[in-house]
Amino acid sequence: MATTTTAPAESATSRKPDLSVRFAGITFKNPVIAAAGTFGYGIEFEDIVTLEKLGGFCTKGLSREPMVGNPPPRLFETAAGMLNSIGLQNIGAPAFVTEKLAHLQQKKNVVVIANVFGYTREDYVETIRILNEAEGIAAYELNVSCPNTHEGGMVFGTNRTMLEELVATCKSASRRPLIVKLSPNVTSIGAMAKAAENAGADAISLVNTFVAMAIDASARKARISNITAGLSGPAIKPIALRMVYEAAHTVEIPVVGMGGITTAEDAVEFMLAGAAAVQVGTANFWDPCATEKIIDGLQRWCVEHRVSRITDLIGGLQA
Ligand SMILES: Cc1cc2nc3c(=O)[nH]c(=O)nc-3n(C[C@H](O)[C@H](O)[C@H](O)COP(=O)(O)O)c2cc1C
Repeated sequence: MATTTTAPAESATSRKPDLSVRFAGITFKNPVIAAAGTFGYGIEFEDIVTLEKLGGFCTKGLSREPMVGNPPPRLFETAAGMLNSIGLQNIGAPAFVTEKLAHLQQKKNVVVIANVFGYTREDYVETIRILNEAEGIAAYELNVSCPNTHEGGMVFGTNRTMLEELVATCKSASRRPLIVKLSPNVTSIGAMAKAAENAGADAISLVNTFVAMAIDASARKARISNITAGLSGPAIKPIALRMVYEAAHTVEIPVVGMGGITTAEDAVEFMLAGAAAVQVGTANFWDPCATEKIIDGLQRWCVEHRVSRITDLIGGLQA
């Protein structure tokens, strides 16, 4: 009698939970994706991180031509966070395809999401066209939310009409699923999420960084040459979580949540708020293996909480 009552419970906890998630037509082996701009082009991390272990990774924002970005200082550590004003420095989409993607294509089972940026609608479309020609990219993530450029970027992400036009144009140019990365620097995140959905986005991701600043009082100078910069890391987590919750309750398309995730429990919170997957950004600066550790932590969390399929957590916040 004793064996029949204890055996099922033991096997339930020892069975490996299913961490896989599927959205925008892509299967991810787990919901943990490295966030754009914090994981290079993936290959820079391959000596320390097993890329195949990740749900996927987003490349640094790619533009049609190389960009040098903003002058230094461009990074500053704050209480529980980080300010950056990189200004979308990147090698350009053509060099990404020949120098980085060619190498990534030799790896099996790695999900590459190309993060795309432009100053104009034509820039975005041209970048997508260049990437369309290449194999080995699972989806595009449209960065409409960079706070560190004076044109394009966040301008699209804070104006509903411009956002709809941009997403619709990019969707028709793209031969891959389109994830639209929203800016948190808006009054109504729900309205922007809806605009992206209406225009044909396959999924949305949020949040990008919050416009912020830091001052060196003794020098009476801004800590960042651009004066304002984007705030990321644990400092933004509660606001990001609220925004993911609001967006997920406004749209039908999947939501990818991020903002200050450093632990498996953080990731679970975003999934309970409605995220189908999560991205990990600033944590990679503190610990380049953060993504792998969060995946291991999720495995343990699911075992401890008797969750056999991680998808059961999505939107599971109880009233
Ligand atoms: C140094 C740095 C560079 C970034 N570059 C990009 C980028 O190129 N494209 C983009 O969409 N987001 C970029 N981001 C935003 C992150 O992908 C992420 O949305 C944000 O940092 C919030 O997540 P976190 O708190 O986990 O870092 C960058 C963030 C940082 C810190």
